[in-house]
Amino acid sequence: MEHDRLNSPSTSSITLEVLGHQLQFSQDPNSKHLGTTVWDASMVFVKFLEKNCRKGRFCPSKLKGKRVIELGAGCGVAGFGMALLGCEVVATDQIEVVPLLMRNVERNTSRITQMDTNSVSFGSIKVAELDWGNQDQIRAVEPPFDYIIGTDVVYAEHLLEPLLQTVFALSGPKTTILMGYEIRSTSVHEQMHDMWKRNFEVKIVPKAKMDSKYQHPSIQLYIMGLKPPAGSIENMTRRIDQQANEVETDSETPKEDDNGGNSKDMNDTDYCSNEKAQEDCELAMRLPKAKLNDWEARRLGSMAARLLRDVKIS
Ligand SMILES: C[S@@+](CC[C@H](N)C(=O)[O-])C[C@H]1O[C@@H](n2cnc3c(N)ncnc32)[C@H](O)[C@@H]1O
Repeated sequence: MEHDRLNSPSTSSITLEVLGHQLQFSQDPNSKHLGTTVWDASMVFVKFLEKNCRKGRFCPSKLKGKRVIELGAGCGVAGFGMALLGCEVVATDQIEVVPLLMRNVERNTSRITQMDTNSVSFGSIKVAELDWGNQDQIRAVEPPFDYIIGTDVVYAEHLLEPLLQTVFALSGPKTTILMGYEIRSTSVHEQMHDMWKRNFEVKIVPKAKMDSKYQHPSIQLYIMGLKPPAGSIENMTRRIDQQANEVETDSETPKEDDNGGNSKDMNDTDYCSNEKAQEDCELAMRLPKAKLNDWEARRLGSMAARLLRDVKIS
C-alpha cells in the first residue's frame, strides 16, 4: 500500500488554525500506515466548514448536538471541524491508527476546553475502532447518524464496496454524507462516482464555496443523501436540494475537465500535462521568486511525490 502514499509526513506534527483554535495533530513519520498522516483533503474540508459556518446548514445553532461519525479518520482533522461547530463526533479508524487518533483527540480536546475561552460551541469527540464492513463494530457505535463524514478515504478499488456498505449501515433516512478527497486515479474516481450516483443524491461543492487558499483542482467535496425508496423521491430530492442550496453546490457529475479528469490515470508521466497539475506546475515555476505559504508548500510536496512515485533508487 505504500505506493499509494503521496503525502509522506516529514514532520511529527502539524498545526492548523480552525475556527480560531490552534489545533495540533501528531503524525508518525516512521509508520507506513496511511492513517498516520494528515491528508490535504481533510484541511480543505475543515476550512470549507469554517468558511460556511456563519449561516446556513453548517452554523453552530443548526449543528449543535448532531451525531457525526468520521470514517477512516486518521489523525482526526475533519472530525474536529464538526466538533468545533457543536456536533457529537465519533472518529473511527482501523485498530493500528486508533492510538495516534486517541492522542490527537485528547490533546486537542483539552487545548480547546481548558485553554481557550472561545469554546462555547464545542460539542464532543470520541474515538472508536471501525473496520469497514465489521458488523459488530458498526452496531457498537449505535447508528443511525445525522452526518457521516470522510476525507481521502476513496483511493483504492477494493475499498469502495466495504465503504459503501458501511455508509448504508450507519445511515438513516435523514443522514447526510460529507466526503472530501483528492483524485489520484481516474478509474477509481469514476467507479466511485458511478457507485455513489446510483445510491445517493450527489452534490459537488463548487470551488467558490471553499476557502480561497485551502483548495486545489484535484480535491473535491461532496454532499450526499441516500436515495429514497420509490414513491418518496420528490420529498427526498427537495430535502437534499434545500440542504445543498444552503452552500450552493453544483449538481450532477462535474464536466470531465472540471473534475480534473482526463481519460488517463494520473501517473508520473502524464502528471505535468494534466490540467489538474497545472496549478502545481505554475507554483513550481514561481519558486525562485516566491516565498511559499504552508499550503503551497504542502501542494508542492504532493506534486514532487507524484513525480517521484515510480523512481526507483538503486
Ligand atoms: C488516506 S488516509 C486519510 C486519513 C484522514 N481521513 C485524512 O484525511 O487525513 C485513509 C484512511 O482510511 C482508513 N482506512 C482504510 N481502509 C479502511 C478500512 N477497511 N476500514 C477502516 N478504515 C480504513 C485508513 O486507516 C486511513 O486512516
